[in-house]
Amino acid sequence: MSSPIKSIAVMTSGGDSPGMNAAIRAVVRAGISNGVKVYGIKRGYEGMIEGDIIPMQSNSVSNIIQRGGTVLKSARSDRFRTVEGRKQAYNQLVANNIDAVVAIGGDGTFSGALQFNKEHDIPFIGIPGTIDCDLYGTDYTLGFDTAVNTVVDAIDRIRDTADSHDRLFFVEVMGRDAGYIALYSGIAGGAEAILIPESKTDELSLMKTLEKGWERNKSSMIVVVAEGDEQGGAYQIAEKVKTKFNNYDIRVSVLGHIQRGGSPSCFDRVLGSRMGVAAVEALLAGRVQIMIGVVNNHIHYTSLEKAVKHNQDIDMNLLKLGEILSS
Ligand code: F6P
Repeated sequence: MSSPIKSIAVMTSGGDSPGMNAAIRAVVRAGISNGVKVYGIKRGYEGMIEGDIIPMQSNSVSNIIQRGGTVLKSARSDRFRTVEGRKQAYNQLVANNIDAVVAIGGDGTFSGALQFNKEHDIPFIGIPGTIDCDLYGTDYTLGFDTAVNTVVDAIDRIRDTADSHDRLFFVEVMGRDAGYIALYSGIAGGAEAILIPESKTDELSLMKTLEKGWERNKSSMIVVVAEGDEQGGAYQIAEKVKTKFNNYDIRVSVLGHIQRGGSPSCFDRVLGSRMGVAAVEALLAGRVQIMIGVVNNHIHYTSLEKAVKHNQDIDMNLLKLGEILSS
């Protein structure tokens, strides 16, 4: 049976992440090779509302797989949160004869898609693109691997200077609601402590860890703090610690948006390529309102509803492992 989908649009939305370009490229080329017309929507839902929609050919995505950011640009759209905004977006899709949308983004992007589909009949399919790795239904999201390697590189550099000066560093990493970046980079960077929103930060045990490090003559210590930790960011936690523990000279480093940029790792390029092709194939097979994921290294489908509603549980054994290895 031939698919009713003759024309699709691809867009990136929310915080950009390395690997989004690989996914765009894969959607465009897989679409074309299946005889489907492909369009690019610029600036996510904002561009959809404004009709900033361009036809994409195979060579529109040449030479982008190695580039960070997103060639389609991204935005967080307040207008799409309104009924009028979504209606305007729908009208633009209809005017361009678009049958389905491939949305590359995170939680907010998929919540927008779900709301849109309660009101309008153009289906969406999601590709998880966020450095936070916090979406249910996939082991990895696009950009996480690259971001976490950027963070590990930064921690290694901080370790050099921390060690030279016998200092204690609090390093703040991204992750508004999720501690994956902190957890993985903390383990890989040999952090003395890792503070994440998924686990209550116990001030007393943090102090004990630091005291123990001092007694062991550690010449440097690093505490990785996820920006969303319930005790606050790195500056706030460092201030609290300073009042009770002043054996080390304390410094704070907030890594910020350098974590989001840069050339995607091999892993993220392959992940984006696989997910982009899988999204097109799923659409043509009649699957809609799902997010493409990779679970146990196999393509996996999760309803957008579940992807948004469920939390990706963090593996508490990894946190424990970090504690054991830093003692
Ligand atoms: O969602 C990805 C992310 O990088 C979060 O880790 C971070 O809290 C947020 O985006 C920052 O968003 P913005 O670039 O809009 O400040």
